[in-house]
Amino acid sequence: MKTPVLFINFKCYMEATGKNAVALAKKAEAVAGKSKAQIALAVQAVDIRLVSESVSLPVFAQHVDPVEYGSRTGHVLPEAVKAAGAKGTVLNHAENKRDNAFLEKAIARAHEAGLTVMVCAESIARAEQVAAFSEKPEFIAIEPPELIGGDISVSTAKPELITDTVKAVEAVAGIPVITGAGIKNADDVRIALKLGTKGVFVASGIIKAQDQEKAILDLVKGFS
Ligand code: G3P
Repeated sequence: MKTPVLFINFKCYMEATGKNAVALAKKAEAVAGKSKAQIALAVQAVDIRLVSESVSLPVFAQHVDPVEYGSRTGHVLPEAVKAAGAKGTVLNHAENKRDNAFLEKAIARAHEAGLTVMVCAESIARAEQVAAFSEKPEFIAIEPPELIGGDISVSTAKPELITDTVKAVEAVAGIPVITGAGIKNADDVRIALKLGTKGVFVASGIIKAQDQEKAILDLVKGFS
């Protein structure tokens, strides 16, 4: 996937579930078409097929489990996610955290299924640990949990967290770093890229906006 990239996290917001997920995905696709920006969509597992069949943007699962085909009731099987049309998966989002043993297995299973992986980290130390895994994710996303869903962006409130994470990850492995939490406008995006990230991970700034398409367009203006 080319960078810089805007990952839109649909979470479990009503405005981004089911038919609303498709509507939002189409708005994102329209912006990607106009702006040529790379946009990826992290949708709920049950919406992966619907969204993948409706738009050509890369679709990510919000989570997969480190399981194989078989007696695993209630788990999210990487192969099923891939077959539904996903290109990748997010792991360890602050709202769905897992320990490192789980993550190492889940990254390996996701790769076996042909999925690109973005692992979230809540701190520099966690990002370093993830970068040191033997099975490495394609992206690491640094998101300070306390700023998620708020009005103050990680770019303005914690620039040093971004630069220090980029440095720390670079020292261990050349994995591109993404950042998110409170990102709302083009300036937040511009700052995040200037601080060394390869993209941003955004939810409420888009999903809760009165005009979602305008919000997406404004964000990708930060790429140029
Ligand atoms: O995954 C991105 C997300 O956690 C950031 O949420 O609402 O602060 O953009 P938000």
